[in-house]
Parts: sequence; structure tokens; C-alpha cells
Amino acid sequence: MRGSVEHSWGWGHCAPSPLLLLTLLLFAAPFGLLGEKTRQLLEFDSTNVSDTAAKTPGTPYPPYSLADFSWNNITDSLDPATLSATFQGHPMNDPTRTFANGSLAFRVQAFSRSSRPAQPPRLLHTADTCQLEVALVGASPRGNRSLFGLEVATLGQGPDCPSMQEQHSIDDEYAPAIFQLDQLLWGSLPSGFAQWRPVAYSQKPGGRESALPCLASPLHPALAYPLPQSPIVRAFFGSQNNFCAFNLTFGASTGPGYWDQHYLSW
Ligand SMILES: *[C@@H]1O[C@H](CO)[C@@H](O)[C@H](O)[C@H]1NC(C)=O
Ligand SMILES: *[C@@H]1O[C@H](CO)[C@@H](O)[C@H](O)[C@H]1NC(C)=O
Ligand SMILES: *[C@@H]1O[C@H](CO)[C@@H](O)[C@H](O)[C@H]1NC(C)=O
Ligand SMILES: *[C@@H]1O[C@H](CO)[C@@H](O)[C@H](O)[C@H]1NC(C)=O
Ligand SMILES: *[C@@H]1O[C@H](CO)[C@@H](O)[C@H](O)[C@H]1NC(C)=O
Repeated sequence: MRGSVEHSWGWGHCAPSPLLLLTLLLFAAPFGLLGEKTRQLLEFDSTNVSDTAAKTPGTPYPPYSLADFSWNNITDSLDPATLSATFQGHPMNDPTRTFANGSLAFRVQAFSRSSRPAQPPRLLHTADTCQLEVALVGASPRGNRSLFGLEVATLGQGPDCPSMQEQHSIDDEYAPAIFQLDQLLWGSLPSGFAQWRPVAYSQKPGGRESALPCLASPLHPALAYPLPQSPIVRAFFGSQNNFCAFNLTFGASTGPGYWDQHYLSW
């Protein structure tokens, strides 16, 4: 996923330098990024879902709340050369030890110029955008056909949630066989956006054989979602508290899937 940070982080149209931006991201996270942007890691048992177009990914297992994760010290993963940092975590309480060898990682990267990442789906980015990559690695699924998902929370604008849009495109040499670009748009002009290819991967490096569909649910206002008490987060978000949430789910019961290599990246 990439997006204009100006909206998400409450900046005006004067974009900060990428390095300043990265510093800010680091200060805000994990409260800002992890607390605001994603809330739960979802897992579904898709054993009985035979239809790939089914409305539900399967029977939900109890979700993992990201608020109950312990995260690495971000300072150690800060890389000024690539303007990136990785938040890696696992549940603090893990009685069934599903994360004994596993972790969930969020890698944030800012860009100083327009380019495409080396990893698929190679979405074009510009200098004032940043990218979020999510990787689930090594966690034990709770069933044989577990599909994972993320519940994502984001800020609305005024009383409205951002609008979700699907763009269809002809084949693109950078993302073969992926004919769609999904995006969230804030405002009608719009004042901010986030966009992604609806694809995740069950192997590293990602490729066509390991591509999983990524489905987004409609956005709903998420009432009663309290802001963390961090003064930094307050400074970013002000008193704004109109959150919206949606679910992303990765894969289909027919596979390929996380179960192949206990690996998922988006
Ligand atoms: C799947 O279907 C079988 C047979 O109908 C049933 O016994 C099982 O409980 C179902 N599993 C789930 C997760 O729904
Ligand atoms: C994180 O690591 C840096 C340097 O490696 C250290 O200065 C800082 O105190 C650490 N922060 C926490 C919360 O452990
Ligand atoms: C974690 O990895 C170790 C070493 O590979 C293995 O012995 C152990 O069974 C794994 N634990 C779980 C819960 O997967
Ligand atoms: C997973 O598959 C194995 C072998 O097919 C089976 O014995 C086991 O009961 C299955 N586990 C679940 C949770 O469905
Ligand atoms: C996401 O999925 C979980 C499990 O099905 C559900 O409890 C939750 O309400 C969903 N969230 C949204 C925003 O749709």
C-alpha cells in the first residue's frame, strides 16, 4: 500500500522532507501507525468455503489485537539510507504459542523520488508518498486452511468515511495478470489517498504462483475508537475522532495460502 502522508498525518500541502517525515513516522509509531491504522490480525477457518467468490472468508477464530502485541525497538531497524523502518511484534500473551516462532511486521518506507520497488506488485510511487508493507512470518495457523486478514482503521474526513474505489486497467508489465488498483480517497478533490494492488504473496520473493487475492470489505464508521493518550498522537490527530474501519482478507480456501510456507506479505 502506498499513500500520501499529507492527509494521514495531518500535514498541510507543504510536504516535509522525507527524512523529517520518517522521523515523524517513527515518533508516532507504534501508537500512530499500529494503533490507528490497523487494529486486529484476523484469522478464518476456510475449510468449508468451497466457493472462491464466497462473501465470507470462513469461520473467524478469535482475532489477535495489535494493541496486545509487544513491538521491537524501532530505533534498531531505522535505515536512513532507504528511509525505512520496521515494526515487528508478537502477542505479549501467547498461551497456545502460535507465535513462538512467528512475527507480524510492518515496514514503512518514505521516498525521496519517483520510482518502483523491486518487489511485486511494483506500484509506482512519487516523492511525497510512503509505503507500508505487511508480513506475517512463521506463526502457526490454528487450522489447516487458515486465511488471515487485517482490520484496518483510518481517519474519516468530517462525518464521512473515505471512499473506496476500484480502478480497472489493462495488463501492466509491472504487475502481470493484476488488472485492478484499489484506492481510498479522502474528499472529492481528493486531499489524500491510499492505494494498493489487490494482491498478497505466500512466498518470498512474491510471484505469480504465490499470488493471493486481497479482498477489502466496505468501510464503516468505527464509533467509540479511543485515541491513545500519547501527546505525540494527539499532536498529529488533534481532537479528531471520526474513525472508519474495514477488513482486508488475503487468499482463498483453494490456495495457494499461508499454510504453504507460513508466509504472507502484502
Ligand atoms: C465444516 O463442515 C463439517 C461437515 O459439515 C462440520 O463438521 C465442521 O464443523 C465444519 N467446520 C467449520 C469450521 O464450519
Ligand atoms: C531503543 O534503542 C536505542 C538505541 O539502540 C536506545 O537509545 C533506546 O533507549 C531504546 N528504546 C527503548 C524504549 O528501549
Ligand atoms: C519453533 O521452532 C523450533 C526450532 O525450529 C521448533 O523445535 C519448535 O517446535 C517450533 N515451535 C512451534 C510452536 O512451532
Ligand atoms: C488437518 O489435516 C490433518 C490431516 O489431513 C487432519 O488429521 C487434522 O484433523 C486437520 N486439522 C484440522 C484442525 O482440521
Ligand atoms: C472484520 O472481521 C471481523 C471478523 O469477522 C469482524 O468481527 C469485524 O467486525 C470486521 N470489521 C469490519 C470493520 O468490518
